[in-house]
Formats: sequence, C-alpha cells, structure tokens
Amino acid sequence: MGKPKAAKQLCVFLIILVGCIPMKAQSQDKFETGKVFLTGKIIFNNNCNVCHVGGSNIIIPEKNLRKKSLEANGMNNLEAIVYQVTNGKNGMPAFGGRLKEAEIEKVAIYVLQEFGKKNEN
Ligand code: HEC
Repeated sequence: MGKPKAAKQLCVFLIILVGCIPMKAQSQDKFETGKVFLTGKIIFNNNCNVCHVGGSNIIIPEKNLRKKSLEANGMNNLEAIVYQVTNGKNGMPAFGGRLKEAEIEKVAIYVLQEFGKKNEN
C-alpha cells in the first residue's frame, strides 16, 4: 500500500503547488497593449457599437469617433473619453454603473487606437 499513498500525496502536493502559482495575467494586462486592445474591442462591440458602428455616430453624425471629430471636440485623449463614457453626455448614456473603471479605460484605448487615428473608415 506504500506506492499508491505516495502517488496520492504527490498529487495533493502538485495541486497545492499549481494553486500557489501567482496569477500573473492581471498585473501584466496593462502592459500588454494587444490584449487591452482586444478586450476593448469586445467591450466596444457589446456596449458602444449600437450607436457608434464602425466609429460613426448614428445619433449625432458629426460627433463620431474619428480623428477630426475627436480633435474638434477635445476628445482625442484618454482622460476625456474615460470621463464621457463614465458620466455620459446628452444622448450618450453613462457607463459608470455598468462598466468597471478598468473596462472603461480599455474601451477608451480601443477607440483611440482603432478610430482616433483615422479620418475615414
Ligand atoms: C445610445 C447611443 C450611444 C451609445 C450606446 C454610446 N454612445 Fe458615445 N456618443 C453618443 C452621442 C449621442 C454622442 C455625442 C454626445 C454629445 O457630445 O452631445 C457620443 C459621443 C461619444 C464620443 C465623443 C465623440 C466626439 O467626437 O465628440 C466618444 C469618444 C464616445 N461617444 C464613445 C463611446 C463609447 C466608448 C461607448 C461605449 C462604452 C459609447 N460611446 C456608447 C451616443 C452613444
């Protein structure tokens, strides 16, 4: 009966060991721009795309997410977008209660990278 018991102990040891490996993913997240971009894209598709399909604005067309419009409205930076997404503005709902701060930051990064550099689609 010695062998199976040792195997069982080894098993328990391995499970504990695996459980102790630190969850690095989250702390690295911030620095993995590609990952942030992809997460931002998913958040955008789920929350923003209805009104901002392809970086447009179906309610107020001239307030779209492309370079010229963002610049004209002082929205061409992370802080301004995070603020507006959190608090809403006119026809745009506030997402502060629906999305986490980190999610709002990611979707803002996505907007700037995906649409904020282009004048057209
Ligand atoms: C119900 C429709 C709607 C949804 C959903 C929506 N928006 Fe908007 N968005 C608007 C409207 C309307 C404006 C114009 C607000 C204003 O300045 O009067 C706007 C403006 C913006 C602007 C500024 C554009 C500019 O050129 O001034 C950004 C950036 C933006 N939205 C990002 C987002 C993001 C990111 C999401 C998702 C988290 C989102 N929006 C969801 C309707 C929406």
